[in-house]
Amino acid sequence: MLCLKNESNTGWIDTATQHLIDVIIDHAHCEKKAAHTGMVLLSKYPEKTELCFAMADLVEEEIGHFRSVMQILERRNEKLTPDKGDEYARLLFTRLRKDDQNRLLDHLLIAGIIEARSCERLQILAKHIDDEELRKFYKNLADSEAGHYMTFVKLAKLYYEENEVKKRLDELTNYEADIIKKLKNEPTMHG
Ligand SMILES: [Fe+2]
Ligand SMILES: [Fe+2]
Repeated sequence: MLCLKNESNTGWIDTATQHLIDVIIDHAHCEKKAAHTGMVLLSKYPEKTELCFAMADLVEEEIGHFRSVMQILERRNEKLTPDKGDEYARLLFTRLRKDDQNRLLDHLLIAGIIEARSCERLQILAKHIDDEELRKFYKNLADSEAGHYMTFVKLAKLYYEENEVKKRLDELTNYEADIIKKLKNEPTMHG
């Protein structure tokens, strides 16, 4: 389960399988926002070369995921609808410290935690969905998101002391576990 402190509510999978198109549409928006996070980080820290290369790779992969999800929608004669936002991610980002010393650490770790939870949700979908095409797709994507989690933690350890990274990751994952417990099991990737 990577860094996560708990598993998703079992009720979520029932809602997700009953409203699969809603989940797929929200998933496309998640991939778009993951690419956006990469662009924000490489724009904000141009002097950090390793970060810029890692985020350039991430942006390419996430946009590729976005394209693949769009193609799945198209094959099902469905269209993308407006982004309804992501309350889970919004709550996590309320913990981002804004001072120069801590901001990058928190941004990297929060992005990494979102990747880890997305990986868990994709694994759940891969296990429970009947559709063979989607099962395969979600399994591949789960591996890719796990890799992104590792990238963010590796970058955090490159720019901060290992003990500081572990301590903050522990604090943020405790908070994330609390958010997960209180979710209403909506038909979204992080619902
Ligand atoms: Fe992705
Ligand atoms: Fe990702």
